[in-house]
Amino acid sequence: IVNLSDQHSLVSNWVSELRDVNVQHDRLRFRRNLERIGEIAAYEISKQLPWKTVETPTPLGIHESKVLDAQPVLATILRAGLPLHNGMLNYFDKADNAFISAYRKHHRDGSFEISLEYMSCPVLDNRVIIISDPMLATGSSIVKTIQYMRSEGTPADIHVVVAIACTTGIEFIKRECGVDTKIWCGDIDDELTAKGYIVPGLGDAGDLAFG
Ligand code: PRP
Repeated sequence: IVNLSDQHSLVSNWVSELRDVNVQHDRLRFRRNLERIGEIAAYEISKQLPWKTVETPTPLGIHESKVLDAQPVLATILRAGLPLHNGMLNYFDKADNAFISAYRKHHRDGSFEISLEYMSCPVLDNRVIIISDPMLATGSSIVKTIQYMRSEGTPADIHVVVAIACTTGIEFIKRECGVDTKIWCGDIDDELTAKGYIVPGLGDAGDLAFG
């Protein structure tokens, strides 16, 4: 797991604003902070992707340039994932995209299961997939998404980008999807309530972004 706030970069500033009750009610700023984290995550992940050399014609000659060997597939979980996804798409501007609907279906006894009802995606074989969702709580949404994607194709590599990751969710992903699943986060929180909310977290990212 990579914590993008580790070196006191601007990411920790933006995560702090996402958490802050005095700032997070500004929806434009909330969405833009998620988008900015998506942009930085895209930049950091790009360093681990395969590159190739091409000859770029300039007005005065030819330059041997390094360019991405293949575009990743940017996948996001509706609806809170959209601003983070948009940030990633600002940087991987030629990427293919996948959209997944997954939500918590609550039972009378207070327990819940993740209902995955819709996924629109390109062919996933041999592709690098980057899944974004601001909150990694129990990890059920992302695990279910990865399992579904693996049943549809054989991805080359899977990255997960989240604003706040809970240790329970991180461990669940590693256990269910393999230790080679790479997680990039804006910050890590240790507490998860019985209802599956991250503490201190930031609240409900979907509501804060979209009402
Ligand atoms: C939130 C969040 C994740 C999920 C995380 O979505 O955006 O998708 O919960 O929880 P998990 O790790 O325990 O699966 P929510 O169900 O609130 O939907 P929303 O995006 O429509 O607000």
